[in-house]
Parts: sequence; C-alpha cells; structure tokens
Amino acid sequence: MPEIDWERLRAEALAAARHAYAPYSGLSVGSAALTDDGRVVTGCNVENASYGLGLCAEVTMTGQLRLSGGGRFVAVACRSGAGALLMPCGRCRQLLSEFGGTTCLVDTPRGVLPMSDVLPQAFGPGDLPS
Ligand code: THU
Repeated sequence: MPEIDWERLRAEALAAARHAYAPYSGLSVGSAALTDDGRVVTGCNVENASYGLGLCAEVTMTGQLRLSGGGRFVAVACRSGAGALLMPCGRCRQLLSEFGGTTCLVDTPRGVLPMSDVLPQAFGPGDLPS
C-alpha cells in the first residue's frame, strides 16, 4: 500500500475547490484521494440550475478515478474553498464505499477513520443477487 501523505491530500482538496462551480449554494468543495497504486485524484463540486442535480466533489473525483486508470480509494480528504473540513454526504459515502471499501480512510473531525465507521453496515455489491 502507498504511504498516505495527509497534508498533501488536504492541500490537494483545497486546491481542487478552486475549480468548483457552486453559484447556487456558494459552497465550493474539493476532494482528494490517494489510490491503491499511488496516484492522487481530485474532484470539485459542479452545480447547475436544477439545484437537485448538482454533483458533489466526491462524484467528480470518482469519475477522475475511473478516467485516470481505475483502482481503489485508499484515503480521502474533503475541504471547502475556505479550508474547512467537510464530511462526505450520504450519497458520497456510498460512492466512497463502492470504490474504497470498508478500509478506505477518511479525514474526519474526529481524526482519520475507516469507512466502516463513516458508513457502518453499508449496502454494497455483495448484497445484490448474483
Ligand atoms: N458538497 C460536496 O461537494 N461534497 C460534500 O461532501 C458535501 C457537499 C457540495 C454539494 C453542493 O454543491 C454544496 O456542497 C452545498 O451542499
């Protein structure tokens, strides 16, 4: 597993927030993740006039994971454009769980925690009929 540089992930999340398109909420968000092969992928929120169809930073980051070679999330940090730590919303926890699993680490106000603490008893691919 690659070594996790949390300060770099936090800085990359903050930098990604500068690319956000958030004219409706006014909250720019950036996220950054280390992948299992040592890449760092980032995302930013992209809103639109429908409000409800806006994309969170973690959603565009998941697209970047796939577009840049796939793999798994190992560690994730989210920051507002002002540098505040943000927790992933419910939908984004599901996405992080899909592509990072229970052991993916998340930067939280209570310290670095595994996804199993951030989304306990998650629904996942294993719950689907084969
Ligand atoms: N948002 C994110 O991008 N990620 C999060 O983890 C929390 C919320 C965005 C969605 C919306 O564009 C704005 O923040 C306000 O909710």
